[in-house]
This record gives sequence, C-alpha cells and structure tokens, in this order.
Amino acid sequence: MAQFLHLLLLLSLSSAILQVSIAGDPDILTDFIAPQGVGGPLDGNYFTFTGMRTLVDAPFPSTFKVLKATMAEFPALNGQSVSYAVLEFPNNTVNPPHTHPRASELLFLLMGSLDVGFIDTTNNKLFTQKLQEGDIFVFPKGLVHFQFNSDVNNTALALSAFGSASPGTVSVPNSVFNSTIDDNVLALSFKTDVATIQKIKSGLSG
Ligand SMILES: *[C@@H]1O[C@H](CO)[C@@H](O)[C@H](O)[C@H]1NC(C)=O
Ligand SMILES: *[C@@H]1O[C@H](CO)[C@@H](O)[C@H](O)[C@H]1NC(C)=O
Ligand SMILES: *[C@@H]1O[C@H](CO)[C@@H](O)[C@H](O)[C@H]1NC(C)=O
Repeated sequence: MAQFLHLLLLLSLSSAILQVSIAGDPDILTDFIAPQGVGGPLDGNYFTFTGMRTLVDAPFPSTFKVLKATMAEFPALNGQSVSYAVLEFPNNTVNPPHTHPRASELLFLLMGSLDVGFIDTTNNKLFTQKLQEGDIFVFPKGLVHFQFNSDVNNTALALSAFGSASPGTVSVPNSVFNSTIDDNVLALSFKTDVATIQKIKSGLSG
C-alpha cells in the first residue's frame, strides 16, 4: 500500500513537471530554425528585423497603432520564445481589452503616461496602475488586459516583450461582437435583446 501511494505521488509529481514544461513555446533541438528552401549559408541578415525602422522620424499616428515583430513578421524568432510589439497611443486612445493566449507581456513605457489593467481568473479582480515614463508592467499570461492613454494633450509610446514567438491576440470586443456568433446566443449571454446586440455589432463592423 505504501509503495502504491509512493508511486501515485511520483506520477502526480511528474505530470506536474510535464505541465510546467509544456506551458510555453516548445523547445527546439537546434540552435535556431533555418528557413525552408533557402540555398546558401545564413548570415546576420536572417537574424535582423528592420520593420521597425519605419518608426524612426515618422509622424505619430492619429489612431492607436501596434507594430509587431513576432514570428509572422520575423521568421528567425521561430523556436526562440520571444517577440516584441511597439504600441503607439495618440492622446485619449485605448487598446481595448484583449488577451494573449500564449504569452505574458512585459510592457515598458518609453514616453507619456498610461493607465493599464488586467483581470484575474479567480474573482474578476481588477489590477490597475497609472504608469509613468520609465515604468515596466507585467500582464500575466492569458489574462484579459487593456491600456489607456487618458492624457488629452500627450501621446504615449510603449514597447512590449512577449514570452512567445507567437503570443496571439484575442480581442474581447472583436471576438464577441465582430464575429459570426449568433445574435440570439449573444442576447441570452449578455441578458439583453437582439436589437441591442446588433447595435453593438454595427459599431465594430464599420
Ligand atoms: C491640455 O492643454 C490645454 C492647452 O494647453 C490646457 O488648457 C489643459 O489644461 C490641458 N489639459 C490637461 C488635462 O492637462
Ligand atoms: C488630441 O487628439 C485630438 C483628436 O482625437 C486632436 O484633434 C488634438 O489635436 C490632440 N491634441 C493634442 C495636444 O495632441
Ligand atoms: C471587424 O471585422 C472586420 C472584418 O474582419 C474588420 O475589417 C474590422 O476592422 C473589425 N473591426 C474592428 C473594430 O476591429
């Protein structure tokens, strides 16, 4: 009996370890993943992403804008478990509630101020902060979060690092109200009527 319990304990421990080890991007068995079908030897260019050069000396956008350097834009990140996004907030703009299913996010506020927040899974508890220039905030993996530049006179600029080469984004407004989920399902879910659901949907579909 004692041996059986011992075995059970070992099994549950090892499955816990297994769960921890598969909670992020998979580890690769090579230094990096070379692109398919490329003939000659790789050089530093493959490991360089120049897509952010468009930010240099560019005018600030007039709406909230995200510039990503994930595996999709920068294939050398495949297998490296990291990625970046640059977030530009004109005055009084919001990055609506969303989640990144595969990564936590480490946001570094480079310019301006930013109201940030996330909701936990235990009790929908809201954790908020008003960040000032130079602050770093972490959004735990998979949790719903937002960022808001409430300053009416100043822009805000942030750099976010992700613990995945492909963090993914699920926008709460878009996934719920800008998808083809049936209006009746939404009306029942939000305890309202179909007309109200259609009104919300029309604001996003434009
Ligand atoms: C924004 O700028 C205007 C003009 O300079 C100023 O009157 C106003 O107080 C500022 N608002 C805030 C919230 O700082
Ligand atoms: C704030 O944003 C509005 C547009 O939403 C713009 O008209 C205004 O010029 C901006 N103010 C400043 C100080 O950037
Ligand atoms: C809603 O979805 C359409 C089609 O995918 C897209 O073009 C549009 O930008 C989305 N609306 C918002 C507010 O993101």
